[in-house]
Amino acid sequence: MTMDRYVITGKQRLEGRVRTSGAKNAALPLMAATILSEGKTVLQGVPRLSDIMHMIGVLNKLGCQTEFKDNELVIDSSTLNGSTVDEELMRKMRGSNLVLGPMIARNGRVKISRPGGCAIGTRPMDQHFKGLKELGVTIQERHGYIEAAAKKLKGGEIYLDIPSVGATENIMTAAVLAEGTTMIRNAAREPEIVDLQNLLNKMGAKVRGAGTHIIRIDGVKKLNGTEHAVIPDRIEAGTHLIAAVMTGGDITVENVIPEHISPVIAKLRQGGAEVTVNGESARVRHKGKLKAFDIKTLPYPGFPTDMQPQFMALLTMAEGTSIVTETIFENRFQHVAELTRMGAKITIEGRAAIICGVPTLEGAFVEATDLRAGAALFLSALAAEEGTVLEGVDHIDRGYENLEEKYRALGAKLQRVVKQP
Ligand code: UD1
Repeated sequence: MTMDRYVITGKQRLEGRVRTSGAKNAALPLMAATILSEGKTVLQGVPRLSDIMHMIGVLNKLGCQTEFKDNELVIDSSTLNGSTVDEELMRKMRGSNLVLGPMIARNGRVKISRPGGCAIGTRPMDQHFKGLKELGVTIQERHGYIEAAAKKLKGGEIYLDIPSVGATENIMTAAVLAEGTTMIRNAAREPEIVDLQNLLNKMGAKVRGAGTHIIRIDGVKKLNGTEHAVIPDRIEAGTHLIAAVMTGGDITVENVIPEHISPVIAKLRQGGAEVTVNGESARVRHKGKLKAFDIKTLPYPGFPTDMQPQFMALLTMAEGTSIVTETIFENRFQHVAELTRMGAKITIEGRAAIICGVPTLEGAFVEATDLRAGAALFLSALAAEEGTVLEGVDHIDRGYENLEEKYRALGAKLQRVVKQP
């Protein structure tokens, strides 16, 4: 694997329009769900990202045929014939575990390499297992693999101890072909869950309640192919809005669902930024200093953990002291040490980070340790005095489509340096 880097010249005022791509975190479960169909599914607005390419690899390994042109992905699952997702594919992307539910439903069994921890936490799967067992699935863990099997899936009553996004998705995609009714209580309410419900229902499933805490699934016998457009990426959109504030710029972000980014808009307004929403676009204009404010990450519709690092970058230059509390992942402060190298003043106290605003950040040599930490450093580099070398761009490639092109068009000065292994 090559490890590319960005060389970024800071302090350029960003201005103009930028279009949000389709949501990676919606596209991944939708792609996994196409396994349920015995026909062809067409997904539109699929972002061209390394995580998406890995999921295509997983589907191909399981025997599905795929065709990816521009942002349209056609998946033909009629040829499904595999049942194992090996170590190599799972290591590349933990989102591969989203095939668990659809594979059991369609194939009766599946074997996947157990995803390990990652840069931001241990990432257990107990809630996925608890839900699937309730539907009649037996789960065995052997030699680093999870083997799940069910002779027949039966609807069940499931209460999740925490509203896990992935667990909710895996249970929904298993339950759609189960006999009888499944209720998921304390389900995750993220917009990506609603998008999954919409696709499943177009395929012929009977799912209701996504977006609330209770999801009801009435099992059907068979699912067909369909067409579906992926929702816009709310995390990407939020990242662009912050870029406007951090560079004292004026950016209009197109292809947004304003409701999905309401926690982000509320916080930017609280800090004093001018945000205007018009149909499917959001515009941020800002001059001068932002006022400090606190954030606490929570399940949707609370403040998203995937925006926490980017907001911390923003708060490093705010006027006053802010407290950022991370309640979702136990180890999501990896960007702090790197932001400190750029002149930020941050102390960590358990799950909270206390940020004392500084007048400006300074360019430095920094490294992205994970996707959103990378986004935070990218934003900081855009705002910093002088140049920054940002290592580990491959992490950013997992979640931001055409980042260089989009930011150059807004007036950023950056260059990607491809490093040979
Ligand atoms: C998804 C997103 C990720 C986002 C996260 C939280 C995708 C592909 N990824 O991840 O970008 O940061 O939601 O919004 O959509 N947990 C358990 N047991 C479980 C499952 C989860 O304890 O069985 C814990 C996790 O360790 C974590 C919390 O629950 O602390 C939330 O995890 P979850 O909602 O499952 O996140 P993902 O679906 O993995």
